[in-house]
Amino acid sequence: MTANFKGARIAIASDHGGFEQKESLKPWLVQQGYSVKDLGPDNEASVDYPDYAHIVAKLVARGEADAGILVCGTGLGMSIAANKVKGIRAVPVTTPEFAQLAREHNDANVLCLSGRFVDDASNKHIVQEFLTTDFAEGRHARRVAKFEDA
Ligand code: RB5
Repeated sequence: MTANFKGARIAIASDHGGFEQKESLKPWLVQQGYSVKDLGPDNEASVDYPDYAHIVAKLVARGEADAGILVCGTGLGMSIAANKVKGIRAVPVTTPEFAQLAREHNDANVLCLSGRFVDDASNKHIVQEFLTTDFAEGRHARRVAKFEDA
């Protein structure tokens, strides 16, 4: 469980649908005081998003990064792929309110963004909410602990 990710180590990756926003997020995150590890890709060529989702998810699961950010066209495929890694709670988010709730109630540790349907400024607002909101613990901790029971 993580209170919040203020000043944390962030692993970030994208596919071609999220490349531009990943590139924009990196310096912005550094400016906000985060340590950022870019896991690729390094250009806009077409790639398979599960490859990048798995790299970031494994880093977070191993504790080598505190949280992950993945950007694809919708955020949907990245979240499905990242959630296959044990210990990962990845959420596709398109509003700041959902980012806040994903932290407060679900202790999400990987944020999946849409590079095609949400603009850069809105995604930065989402990222800010996600990284600074505290997990609420209490009854939510009991529920989150059950995620791995399936
Ligand atoms: C790539 O065309 C697209 O499928 C991908 O970016 C993502 O939206 C998948 O969920």
